[in-house]
Amino acid sequence: MSYSIAFSGKGGVGKTTLAALAVRALTEAGKTPVLAIDADPNSCLDAQLGVEVTSTIGSARETVREEAEEAKISKQELLRMKIAQGLVESKGFDLIAMGRPEGAGCYCYANNVLKEAIRELSGQYPYVVLDNEAGLENLSRRIVQEVDVLILVSDAGGAGLRTLCRLYDLANEMGVKYKKLALAINRTRDGKLPPGARDVEAYTKASAVVALPYDEEIAKSAEESVSAWHISENNPVYAAIKQLVNG
Ligand SMILES: Nc1ncnc2c1ncn2[C@@H]1O[C@H](COP(=O)(O)OP(=O)(O)OP(=O)(O)O)[C@@H](O)[C@H]1O
Ligand SMILES: [Mg+2]
Repeated sequence: MSYSIAFSGKGGVGKTTLAALAVRALTEAGKTPVLAIDADPNSCLDAQLGVEVTSTIGSARETVREEAEEAKISKQELLRMKIAQGLVESKGFDLIAMGRPEGAGCYCYANNVLKEAIRELSGQYPYVVLDNEAGLENLSRRIVQEVDVLILVSDAGGAGLRTLCRLYDLANEMGVKYKKLALAINRTRDGKLPPGARDVEAYTKASAVVALPYDEEIAKSAEESVSAWHISENNPVYAAIKQLVNG
């Protein structure tokens, strides 16, 4: 059974940054191998992890039926092959990017096959970190059906905190399954919980709420495209993520 951690939240709040740091935290704690899943078609989790994804599995869901018929193999087998092709292997972790399905249309059937294939892949790793696109779409589409820890990320302002409550409601309405909920309030001014954070904690029944400071090193690393592995060991954001994922 793998232990899975998913980062969700609205756009631009720091999901990818924190997901990459979580992969590093698990890896450095010897909790390997980690499977990092980039479930955001616009994301750059690969760059944040210092690797490069060359093929995603996004388009596979559209072509799987025809290609499988042509190759005379089952759709499941074909998707397994596509996933194996797309998997980037690195030290202590592997990365798979979902990419974007091309074109319009409903690929519910293929999505289900893909979901199954991702579940099978995840099952091969003791630790899984999932970086989601903004909102809860991936979780609701059940690409990943159930996570151990759902980390909802937000900005520190009142609007950010209200978004956390909305995301929590939405997660429940959609039947998103998680064993534990944690709140990460990112880019706070002084690393302290903003007023109202405890109310959100109570409302969401979160088992942890952490304040992550606005950090120049993190901001600079994004500007200079420096990966999570180069953030200093004692960086306060990294320290908080280590505490959150490793306890
Ligand atoms: N604690 C922090 N201190 C300073 N800058 C931060 C911090 N956390 C994230 N950032 C910066 O905020 C920007 C957005 O972060 P990131 O890309 O991780 O957000 P995201 O939620 O994944 O966005 P998207 O919804 O577009 O995927 C990046 O430039 C990142 O470096
Ligand atoms: Mg992102």
